[in-house]
Amino acid sequence: MRQILVTSALPYANGHIHIGHLVEYLQTDIWVRFQKLRGNRCIYICADDTHGTAISIRAQKEGRTEEQIIAEMQQDHVRDFTGFGIEFDLYGSTNSEENRELCGEIWSALRKADMVVEKEIEQLFDVEKGAFLADRFVRGTCPKCQSENQPGDNCGNCGETYSPVELVDPVSTLSGTCPEVRKALHLFVQIEQMHDFLDEWTQSGTLPSESANYLKNFFLNEPLRDWDISRPAPYFGFEIPDSPGNYWYVWFDAPIGYMGTTKKWCDLNGENFADWWRSEDTEIHHFIGKDIQYFHTLFWPAMLKTAGFTLPTKVHIHGFLQVDGEKMSKSRGTFIQASTYLKHLDPAALRYYYASKLSSKVNDLDLNLEEFASKVNSDLVGKVVNLASRTVRFIKDVGLATEYPDDGGLFAAGAAQGEKIATAYEAGDFNKAMRLIMELADKANPYVEENAPWELRKDEQKADELQAVCTVALNLFRQLAVYLAPVLPRLAQQAGDLLNAPITSWDEAASPLLGNQLNKFEHMMQRIDPKKINAMIEESREEQALEEEVPVVKHSYQDDAAALQSEPIAEQITIDDFAKVDLRVARIVEAKAVPEARKLVQLTLSLGGEETRNVFAGMKSAYEVDALQGRLVVLVANLAPRKMKFGVSEGMVIASGPGGEDIYLLSPDEGAVPGQRVH
Ligand code: 2FM
Ligand code: ZN
Repeated sequence: MRQILVTSALPYANGHIHIGHLVEYLQTDIWVRFQKLRGNRCIYICADDTHGTAISIRAQKEGRTEEQIIAEMQQDHVRDFTGFGIEFDLYGSTNSEENRELCGEIWSALRKADMVVEKEIEQLFDVEKGAFLADRFVRGTCPKCQSENQPGDNCGNCGETYSPVELVDPVSTLSGTCPEVRKALHLFVQIEQMHDFLDEWTQSGTLPSESANYLKNFFLNEPLRDWDISRPAPYFGFEIPDSPGNYWYVWFDAPIGYMGTTKKWCDLNGENFADWWRSEDTEIHHFIGKDIQYFHTLFWPAMLKTAGFTLPTKVHIHGFLQVDGEKMSKSRGTFIQASTYLKHLDPAALRYYYASKLSSKVNDLDLNLEEFASKVNSDLVGKVVNLASRTVRFIKDVGLATEYPDDGGLFAAGAAQGEKIATAYEAGDFNKAMRLIMELADKANPYVEENAPWELRKDEQKADELQAVCTVALNLFRQLAVYLAPVLPRLAQQAGDLLNAPITSWDEAASPLLGNQLNKFEHMMQRIDPKKINAMIEESREEQALEEEVPVVKHSYQDDAAALQSEPIAEQITIDDFAKVDLRVARIVEAKAVPEARKLVQLTLSLGGEETRNVFAGMKSAYEVDALQGRLVVLVANLAPRKMKFGVSEGMVIASGPGGEDIYLLSPDEGAVPGQRVH
């Protein structure tokens, strides 16, 4: 019996689970359930990834503590995973004492190995927000491939890792401003010391070949850069014990969260932690997305190796989810939260569809919504569940036959495929496993058609034949349910209930059930109605529209010099000269076009209370009078009144621009009130 520890990437605690995340959690859950069904000792460990700047920013915005946010999100994550039948042996948190201790242990090992160095670095500082910017709050142009709008740590286009200060035209996503470069002291891990080890380890079959080649070409053919592992206070995370005021960067303590959560599971279950993380007998399998392979295939093994922990046996790497051939999109309604999906559709449908698309390759996976409905309807409802629903009622009184009838070798052929299907599951080629299983279903259904139990039951003389045919059909159904059990655990449970024999092991697909009494047929799976898919998309679109707007990233400005050249700056004045001009905030309470004048608009301006001014302004060609009504402007309030053809003008509103259509009124920011002086 193998002893296997399996993890999925720890989801960030600052966002909900969506169908993109589910690719990985379903993939892992299926693999784990397969291992358990095969009789292996297997535990599935996961946790919330709680630390870092994103959580603090959210906490600040919502006026809550980080702890409140992570506690609430943990509940939501567990609710969503449970809804999809994803069963962890323990779902923990990186913000735990076990994790802090293990971080300390690995840190001491890195220090002891002389891999930690201190360097003064330049970091981006958001002046408006008063904070150093975490890598993910900066975007800019990749210094290597020039791809625009890339994050501050590594390029999504070419994979290059860099420091955010190397980004071209960086922009803070918190404020939309261009951040300033400031100096700060950081701690670095020199992973180059592990170069030879990493070269060998990454090329030893632990990774999909695409990933191994990618690492070899991009990273391992030059020295590995020192890894910046600390962040100065304030930072939500663990303070580094021997470097007060500095915190471990979230990507240091996140993977250690795999171990911290295992430690907690061991304590809860009377197990020995060393049997799982310091034992050659334990296999460790990580499931991750291609965007975080650098962390899991270079930093992580370097840390484990240095501290003497077990190295991953395999890192399973998947691609991204697309919906109908495009990136998930909030505006198209294809950015679907797990909880929204569950309001409309059966989780088993997505489990099966993803399984039918997943392979051991690092490919992106496309959720084609039309294919999703047709595949689930034709395979699961049409070919699998149908075998039971069309036959069970005919023998509910007599149960299964006591001897297995002649089925032309169908059951035996299905049993003979067991190892081939298992090999596909083991390799992560779930698409192949599903194909092999459906080939069996394709042979079982014609058997039922040809033997037509609905005809046999009309003739009492044929009761034995009827029992035989239904016994075969139900055993073929059960064989499929065993093979599909990792993907469709609820169906396996229902098949077990129906036939009075719970499915607990893969081997149960090899021997037919005989003589069992049958239970009532409970509804197993419904056809997908495309209307429900549409309703889910619509709801996702609405949900996203309600979400807060993401701050707009401003780009570099390229204002030309024409305006200044056409009107050079005037002669210098003193502050006293300026003070002579009494500028006041005023509200336009009435605006009328002066019909006889080509340019003039007559404004009644309120300075608060009863105080008003009548002003003629030459802006007819730039503003509709209705648009002026109610807005705040800046008034030169002590300008000598001027008698004009249509009346007396008692001041002037301030605007820029050369005239004509190009006149731009100056407006005070929100909060200003009429009568206030402008200094
Ligand atoms: O990319 C992410 O969503 C990270 N929260 C994954 C962390 S995986 C592990 F290292 F903890
Ligand atoms: Zn790039």
